[in-house]
Amino acid sequence: MAGFPIVRLRRLRGSESVRRMVQETRLSASEFVYPLFVTEDPGGRKEIEPMPGCFQLPLSDLAAEAQEIASLGIPSVLLFGLPNEKDPLGMQAYDSQGIIQQAVRAIKKAAPGLAVMTDVCLCEYTDHGHCGVLRGESVDNDATLELLAKAAIAQVEAGADIVGPSAMMDGQIAALRKGLDGAGYSETPIMAYASKYASAFYGPFRVAADSVPQVGDRRGYQMDPANARMALRELEQDVEEGADILMVKPALSYLDVISKARERFPHPLAAYNVSGEYSMIKAAGDRGWLDADRVAVEVLTSIKRAGADIIITYFAKDVARWLKDEA
Ligand code: PBG
Repeated sequence: MAGFPIVRLRRLRGSESVRRMVQETRLSASEFVYPLFVTEDPGGRKEIEPMPGCFQLPLSDLAAEAQEIASLGIPSVLLFGLPNEKDPLGMQAYDSQGIIQQAVRAIKKAAPGLAVMTDVCLCEYTDHGHCGVLRGESVDNDATLELLAKAAIAQVEAGADIVGPSAMMDGQIAALRKGLDGAGYSETPIMAYASKYASAFYGPFRVAADSVPQVGDRRGYQMDPANARMALRELEQDVEEGADILMVKPALSYLDVISKARERFPHPLAAYNVSGEYSMIKAAGDRGWLDADRVAVEVLTSIKRAGADIIITYFAKDVARWLKDEA
């Protein structure tokens, strides 16, 4: 085998054009999903403190926002709701007039070509902040399934294109598939938050979505960050229940899981570059400690290189803009 000095890997790095030719991973806006936080408070456009550049948006701002996102070539948004009323059963999640159902209708009207994904979970709608209904201090898995299915049906009735169950209840994919098929929506895909870890990286999101658990934490249903083999079992389970798209979440500390999932399953694979991953980069950038824009591109590239086809990221609009300027 030839080695140095015959082989000099630097030869392929000498100029911008050659570097571009041999680039193995290229980001494009087509793989981005941009998360939106929609608030029922009419005066409610508000920057999310730990997520500079991201806003809680009232319904009246959604048309313009959706059009801007579509014009950047981003194919999809993922919606989270901030209802005025919360209760133990998360009823606003499945009310036809709930904030997310209204948001879906507003976006589909303003930008019909934008794929609207919805988060199917109860944590934004329950007064206790857990992802399902409580029995005592723990979440009742089986009693939650029916409510998640109802939420998914309400979202699809409002016009959602893809539903994303994120509650980490066992059997939630099967429950949604059955519910959707029974309601006449057998064509609607499910993007399963299949391997979702109990991560401290969700901290800023819980401020953004006002969904901090009032008692306890989510370790009883979300996964232990130490486990990778169990992530494969979670993914396998969701595949068996009929998931159309699989997700690993968070992304950056779980690139090994993304890579294993890529090798093991032929399904489209999504990775969620979560709130804390965004906040860290923004905060360090604001202090002048690193170049936030370059770090953002490097991180998203690493997520794609690890094997993700779809990247859910709060950087979507910024990076899509840069990609457009470069082209
Ligand atoms: C709802 C949900 C969460 C996130 C997405 N869907 C929060 C959680 O599980 O606590 C986190 C997303 C982010 O941090 O950007 N269950």
